[in-house]
Amino acid sequence: MDITQPILTARKAALAVAVITFGVGATGMGMSFLFLASTHHLDVIAGAAGFVGGSVLAAAGLLAGAVLSRSPLAGANISGELRRASAFAPPRVVDHWLAHFRRNRQHRPEPAWDAPVTLAPDVVRPLVKSLEQFQLGDGGGPACLIAWNAERLRARGAGTRALVDLWFAEEREHARLLGAAVARFGGHCIRGHWSFTAFCLVRKYGGVRLELTVLLLTEIVSTVYYRLLRRHGADVALRSMCRLILRDEAGHIAFHRARLAGAVGAGRARCGTWWETRFRALGLAAATMLWVNHAPALCAAGANRAEFYREVWIELSRFVRRVRREAREWAEDGAQATNPLHASQR
Ligand SMILES: [Fe+2]
Ligand SMILES: [Fe+2]
Repeated sequence: MDITQPILTARKAALAVAVITFGVGATGMGMSFLFLASTHHLDVIAGAAGFVGGSVLAAAGLLAGAVLSRSPLAGANISGELRRASAFAPPRVVDHWLAHFRRNRQHRPEPAWDAPVTLAPDVVRPLVKSLEQFQLGDGGGPACLIAWNAERLRARGAGTRALVDLWFAEEREHARLLGAAVARFGGHCIRGHWSFTAFCLVRKYGGVRLELTVLLLTEIVSTVYYRLLRRHGADVALRSMCRLILRDEAGHIAFHRARLAGAVGAGRARCGTWWETRFRALGLAAATMLWVNHAPALCAAGANRAEFYREVWIELSRFVRRVRREAREWAEDGAQATNPLHASQR
């Protein structure tokens, strides 16, 4: 009889409890934002209590999952979690995306900033506040990796360093475009906001792996924001700007997908149920953070909450599906793999 079997069974059960605990906590955190956004003070108190309780549960679930993943009995695959911490992207992925970012600098028609504004004043008012925040968050702050251990990743090689620089150069370009949009609608660029401070603190102190995840999720939910503005915002310059940014963000998301698929395909990371649960929960938390701050602008333009969350869910599902497909292709093709380099642009 295999004496490790009862231990492995107990470990699986404990992992399931950790997943459920994290899921419940993350859901509670997400729902708490809806109460925090209320104008009634009792709802705000309930939301704050829910957020604290949810974050304790989510942290406990994450911690338990991390500890269990590092169990010696978890086997070689699970120790991939440790190796992943030191991995960024396979060399072929780096080369492919360096070429992509250089190509993407071309054919970028500047939005017609001087065209007449065709949005009603009651749409412009919340929109400009929202664009001011986005200008700060989307490349207007520190346009680089700011995690305490980011230099370790950048020092991995000239290719990695150049790739990260080109990626953030596009983010700086987004801030420039958004700054022009803010000026067009009569606003002023801001230098601080509570959500931006929270965003930077998580990136800085969570380590570079968490920072990459946070940036990826931000790009996914921001994609939905720009798409809804392009769909509903009846203004020629606004739509042109959204088109440009969406084109770039599609590349950024595909680049993250390729590096994750490469890591999974090489056995350095996993994209199973536990990863998907965390990914979707964190994605919904990021989406809720965005909705709390930007719902007035999106609703004034003509979007609504159901449409926003539906689009977010579709984006998260698409990412999960494609990471797994590309990882399978990596694993099947081995050293000859080509598909992750052809990560489709959406
Ligand atoms: Fe961006
Ligand atoms: Fe981006």
